Order: sequence, then structure tokens, then C-alpha cells
Amino acid sequence: MTDVWSQRAEAYRDSDAHREGRDLELFAEWAEGETGLDVATGGGHVARVLRAAGLEVVTIDPAPGMKPTVVSRAEEIPFADSSFDVVACRVAAHHFQDPAGALKEMARVSRGLVLIADNLYLGEDGEEADVLHDPTHVRNYSEDEWREMFESAELDVEAFEREDKRIDFQGWLDRAETPDEDRARIEELLGDRIEDGKLRLDRGIFKARVR
Ligand SMILES: C[S@@+](CC[C@H](N)C(=O)[O-])C[C@H]1O[C@@H](n2cnc3c(N)ncnc32)[C@H](O)[C@@H]1O
Repeated sequence: MTDVWSQRAEAYRDSDAHREGRDLELFAEWAEGETGLDVATGGGHVARVLRAAGLEVVTIDPAPGMKPTVVSRAEEIPFADSSFDVVACRVAAHHFQDPAGALKEMARVSRGLVLIADNLYLGEDGEEADVLHDPTHVRNYSEDEWREMFESAELDVEAFEREDKRIDFQGWLDRAETPDEDRARIEELLGDRIEDGKLRLDRGIFKARVR
């Protein structure tokens, strides 16, 4: 999986769907303190907005091509307890083998906030479409499933917003190099979530604090 992500690095750095969004605005607004960790940094968009908000930011990602500060998975974060004021992770947890374990790791290395944004579960058709689109997809979770994971990680959710995220459907397929023969089936599964060439996603954006 790491090699696949390294090959995609430039596409994710340049992607409009990743460069902007309500989640990035909220992360910048919610950030506090002096230091931040961007988990699964990809194209580095969270690190960029946290730095603009005045934080010193370290990044991790298992794909060397994403040029993180440290090559590491979210499930085993190589930092001591309470190392950062803000730990943030955006549009990546649906690729994790163990998102609940990763959230516990994020809680462990934070001494303040854990900020999460990810696409929410849209039903089994949505999951089938996501796996066909990109075989590195593991699962999207509902708002309630996320709240259970926050509770298990001993994190208190202080704020939640649902973003109606619209992304270019063709660009979404091209970034993941989805095989042509799967594209019609994906379109069928997503049905009326595709409007005027845009794919409509629900994105959950959570602000949580270490207990
Ligand atoms: C969609 S991209 C990143 C999005 C980025 N956070 C942003 O805001 O644009 C998903 C990233 O998750 C990383 N990733 C995949 N599995 C991971 C894991 N187990 N732990 C941490 N990062 C992982 C990939 O290498 C990739 O860079």
C-alpha cells in the first residue's frame, strides 16, 4: 500500500478536493497551543493550515513519497505520551486497518486536542463503490461509530460539523487510477450522489479533547 501512495503523491498534493474544504478551515480555527502532529499527511494540506495558524508541525505517513517528517503508520505513532498540543488526521482513517487503535495512539500523543475529519458511511453500496474506486479503502464509519471510538480512546467530543463535500467525480477516479472497466459500476452504485459531474459526500469533522 505504501508504494501505491508514494506513486500518487503528486496527484494528492495538487488535488483541489484535498487542498481546500470546510474541514481545513475548522482545523485552523480550532487549533490551539504551539505544536501539532499531522497524521497521514498525504499532500500536507493539514500541516500547511496548522502552520499558517502559527503552530510548529511534524508530519507522519507510511508512504515515503508523501515526504513526511517521519515515515510511520497511525496505529504505532513513534512519539512519547502528551507530545503535541494538537493531533490532526484528515480523510485518511478510512484507509486504516485499525482506526480505533489509531485514535487511541493519537489521544496518547496529544496533551490537548485531537481533530478528525473523514468521509462518513453512506451504506453498503457506497462501500462497494469506494473499494472498486480504490482497493486501499477499508471502511467509512458513521457519526455514531466515530463517537464510540472517541469514547474508547477517552476523548471528549467538543464540536462536530457535517460538511456536504462535493468533489469532481472524474478527478476522484483518475487520482486513484480506477480501472476503466469498473467505472460504470461505481456510477451505478453511487446513483444520485453524482450530480453535474460532482460526487456528493458527507464528511464528519470532529473536535475532541483529551480527558
Ligand atoms: C487521502 S490521503 C491523505 C489526505 C491528507 N491527510 C489530506 O488532508 O489531504 C491518505 C493518506 O493516508 C496514508 N495512510 C494509509 N494508511 C495509513 C496508516 N495505516 N497510517 C497512517 N497513514 C496511512 C496514505 O499513505 C496517504 O498519504
